[in-house]
Amino acid sequence: METATPRRVEHQQTDKGSVPVYTTAIVEQPWDSYSAADHDTWARLFTRQLGLLQGRACQEFLDALDGLEMAADKIPKFSDINALLAPATGWTLIGVEGLLPELDFFVHLANRRFPVTWWIRRPDQIDYIAEPDLFHDLFGHVPLLFNPVFADYMQAYGRGGIKAHGVGEEALQALTRLYWYTVEFGLINSADGLRIYGAGIMSSKGESIYSLESDAPNRIGFDLERIMRTRYRIDTYQKTYFVIDDFEQLFAATRPDFTPIYAALTEQPAVAAGDVLDSDRVVHRGSGEGWAQDGDV
Ligand SMILES: [Fe+2]
Repeated sequence: METATPRRVEHQQTDKGSVPVYTTAIVEQPWDSYSAADHDTWARLFTRQLGLLQGRACQEFLDALDGLEMAADKIPKFSDINALLAPATGWTLIGVEGLLPELDFFVHLANRRFPVTWWIRRPDQIDYIAEPDLFHDLFGHVPLLFNPVFADYMQAYGRGGIKAHGVGEEALQALTRLYWYTVEFGLINSADGLRIYGAGIMSSKGESIYSLESDAPNRIGFDLERIMRTRYRIDTYQKTYFVIDDFEQLFAATRPDFTPIYAALTEQPAVAAGDVLDSDRVVHRGSGEGWAQDGDV
């Protein structure tokens, strides 16, 4: 596959306002160009999250992280991870500049290629960065690609995305919500209680505690159509987390053709991020404390 030269393009002024502009091509991870500060940022984030996630992340994630030989001392090389990941589940990591156009992203997933942003946040962005960086993509997402069922779910999601792209805007929106509430912000039941599997939580110091331990958010049993109707937050912690019983449940839910589901969804109103419905399987009804009043997307 063709690769482009890595460059970090910061926000640029365009006719759509100030937006990050990236090449969508695959880039070779410029590992030798990481500075001491970059490796230090990785070390601080890695050490902090590893400590926080004991007893909070699902066991599948922690076990995979162990086997991955990711360590605090330096930013991992994608090629080293691929040497373990490809034989395990057939996935490979590819380096990218940042978020990809939807269809490109889906095509990669459908081919078991996971795009990982090559650059890491600056030291002053340790606690929060709006766009996904190397720490989010690599630490948050990659360990679960070692789980065979989750690995299949991700591929099925990519295939579903390609299909939804042909159906239209509302189908894509429904699918984006599914990704958000599972791959990014999902919780899972375990014999020892609720655990995290979503990458957006895994890579966030604050949310890895808040999602499990705060009274404020709702925790609701996984329901595909319910999730596809539910708006979400991009600027604050989630108001609602959806809980799966196991990864099988997730994969099984993506098995049917979504086309009739998309059609049925157009008849139903969207659900606000914090709303609880009568039909919900409520694990915890959120107190709503500290919620912003508007801003759901
Ligand atoms: Fe992500």
